[in-house]
Amino acid sequence: MSVPEPSPAGVYAYPRYYAIGYQWNTKAECDFLEACMLQFARRKAAGVLDIGCGAGRHLLELAGRGYTASGFDLRPEMVQFVKDAAKQAGLAVTVFQDDLRTATLSGRFDLAFCLMDTFRFLLTNDEIIRHLREVAEHLNPGGLYVTDFWIPTKWDQIANEIYQWEQTEGDTTVRVFYVQHPDSVNPVSQTFEDELVFKVEEGETSKEIHGTRTRTRLIMPQEFQALVMACGAFDLAGAFSDFDLIKTLEPSCISWRMVSVLKKRAP
Ligand SMILES: C[S@@+](CC[C@H](N)C(=O)[O-])C[C@H]1O[C@@H](n2cnc3c(N)ncnc32)[C@H](O)[C@@H]1O
Repeated sequence: MSVPEPSPAGVYAYPRYYAIGYQWNTKAECDFLEACMLQFARRKAAGVLDIGCGAGRHLLELAGRGYTASGFDLRPEMVQFVKDAAKQAGLAVTVFQDDLRTATLSGRFDLAFCLMDTFRFLLTNDEIIRHLREVAEHLNPGGLYVTDFWIPTKWDQIANEIYQWEQTEGDTTVRVFYVQHPDSVNPVSQTFEDELVFKVEEGETSKEIHGTRTRTRLIMPQEFQALVMACGAFDLAGAFSDFDLIKTLEPSCISWRMVSVLKKRAP
């Protein structure tokens, strides 16, 4: 039985399914964050900030590894889910609702990160530069900001890609579809709409949850480098095609993602 379940919040109203669907690479991604601190900041982080934390997979993992973990997300359902999960696991995690496009942060951190394509919700150059300056303002000297967002592997695939993968926990299997809508392309603002769809099998039942189409920004590697330079607060310390310091971003190992490590400039 397949039950279509439209919702204005889309898949983000189902943080448990999100947590299952996205759990696969979390430990490796946290290992990468730790390795970046040692390689580029030459120290271990104490306080970390997760921007667009989703169901909190990185926050919970890092809190478990002893970090002082804080994060925020636009969706109240996600924030509540992380609070509940942290309480259940006996972990101290600070999580709150905010919008990365306008957030005025408080506190100081050694490491901030914005993973799994969340950075592309910043739609304009002004939003990106303002955001980068705001994050830098709240990093300790030499602190890092790690971003991870989609880039096209071929130019004729811009706004025309679909990815899918599946994860199982107990009797629940979540198949995640990431879908870009080519009909929505605005070539001037370099934006298009994309969407997440979850197909969930839970015991005997199955359902399909359609996300709302959300406008996101195409950010090309050279453009990102120029925006980082324009913000004046960071240097691009490295760019990778996966959560692996060996896989530097170059044509021989290009992937759908660009993982960038920004280092706060000395004043
Ligand atoms: C693809 S998920 C990634 C979540 C998490 N970073 C991860 O790696 O699992 C994108 C998240 O960004 C959040 N989000 C979307 N727009 C946002 C905004 N303007 N400010 C903060 N969070 C936002 C969504 O609610 C969602 O939880």
